[in-house]
Order: sequence, then structure tokens, then C-alpha cells
Amino acid sequence: MAELLEPRPGAAGRHVGGNTEEPMGHGEMKSYFDEPSLDYEVTQTLIDDGVRAELAQIAARYPQARSALLPMLHLVQSVEGRVTPAGIEACAEILGLSTADVSGVATFYTMYKRKPVGKYHVGVCTTALCAVLGGDEVYSRLQSHLGIGNDETTEDGMVTLEHLECNAACDMAPVMMVNWEFFDGTTPQRACEVVDALRAGEEVTPTRGARVVTWQQAERVLAGFPDGRADEGPTSGPTSRLGLRIAAERGWSAPDPANLPTSDETEETR
Ligand code: FES
Repeated sequence: MAELLEPRPGAAGRHVGGNTEEPMGHGEMKSYFDEPSLDYEVTQTLIDDGVRAELAQIAARYPQARSALLPMLHLVQSVEGRVTPAGIEACAEILGLSTADVSGVATFYTMYKRKPVGKYHVGVCTTALCAVLGGDEVYSRLQSHLGIGNDETTEDGMVTLEHLECNAACDMAPVMMVNWEFFDGTTPQRACEVVDALRAGEEVTPTRGARVVTWQQAERVLAGFPDGRADEGPTSGPTSRLGLRIAAERGWSAPDPANLPTSDETEETR
């Protein structure tokens, strides 16, 4: 393991408020959130030269290198199991950003984790449609079945539970996701069976997408390193294709773009 890049003296384990006027640079991080920020107690890191080379490889894919930050953070998570200060330092150095810039992104999106995630991240949509169709019940049953609260991990390190906002799968509500693979139209019983199978080391197949892999493996795919299974499993559900089926039955087709009115012509008819 490589040694962690040294944080700012005195920064270990503290939460720095957002009203300091002290300029921020590499090795200096602050959080604008009440929750604990990055774990400065971490003394070791798996970010080595090989990982840095892969981070640089991601950055090189984009005309504007800083556009690569999101997949780079996924790669950090695939290596470290979460976003770490060392991962933030590495991204900042490669992209020529301050660690505050990178930290701001990493703490904005909920898909970036500041605490270690279990082998399987189980998310239950509890936004309105899923909630009323059973998502709240699925989530609450999983909480009691696993004995953990939101954003907590079982003692065996296998499952982290989180309630999620809309997963853009409302037509198949209520939905549960394991490492971002869909389990559509789930039920409390089915959800418990899935987590039991995961904890028992059994192979689990979602209703859409590829067989479930570990969270860290899935994070590597999100970083842009395919595992060759993108076409495994169904990619859409029957309710999402309903419009296509109705159109086919009635002989409907999309208009030819070449015959569509221009925006000027549309304006004239108003
Ligand atoms: S409300 Fe759950 S997927 Fe949209």
C-alpha cells in the first residue's frame, strides 16, 4: 500500500465549516455539510501508480479533462471502497484542480460515498410513485430484516441499505437496485429473498441488466472500464416498451425528420 498523501496539519478527523476565508489548495479540504466529511483517520491507501495511470487514462478521454472527474471518482471508489482523501488528491493533481473543487463534487452527488460501502449496495426507491406502490414497505421491511438504518452496513459487511430518490423506472414501481441493477416491481418478500441470497454468496440476477457483481466491480464499470457484460440480461421492461407495441399494432411510425417543419415555419403558424 502507498502512504496516504499528507493532509493539512491539524485537519485529521475534523469538520471544517464553510465560512473560512483561508484559500484552499491541494491537501486542504473542507465540507459545507453538517455531516462528517472525509475520513482523515485513514492512514493507508490503495491509490498507487497503476491507479494513477488509469485515472490519467480516463482524463485523456475528454476534450476538457475536468469533465472526467465523475468517472474518475467512480474509479477511486472501485479501488478504495469509497471516496478517500488520497483519491481526491490524485484526481485533483491529474486534473489540475484544487482538492476543494474535487471534494465539492464528491460530496454533492449521493452516489459518491464517504463511508465504506458493503459488498452490495441495496437501494430502494422511496419517491412518490414507488412509495405509494409499496416502496416504503419494501424499505421498512429490509431495515428490520437486516437490522440496519439508512446508509448503514450489516455487520458482516455484505449489504449497505439506502433509500433512493426516483430511479427513472416509475413505470415499473416499486423498484429496488443492487449495485445499480434493477429489480422492478419488487415486494417486501422478494427484496428480503434477494438480500439473503446475496449474503449467502448465491448468484443473483436482476429483472433488467447483468448479473449482480460486487459494488466495487460495478464502480469500475461506471468508471469506464467495461467488464464485457453490458449486453447481458434484458435492457428494458415490458411497460417501457408498451408504446412501441401499440404503435406496431396500429401501424404507426415516427414522421420522417426531412418532412418536419422548420422552427421558422412553426413560428409562422402561431
Ligand atoms: S418514483 Fe421510483 S423510479 Fe420513479
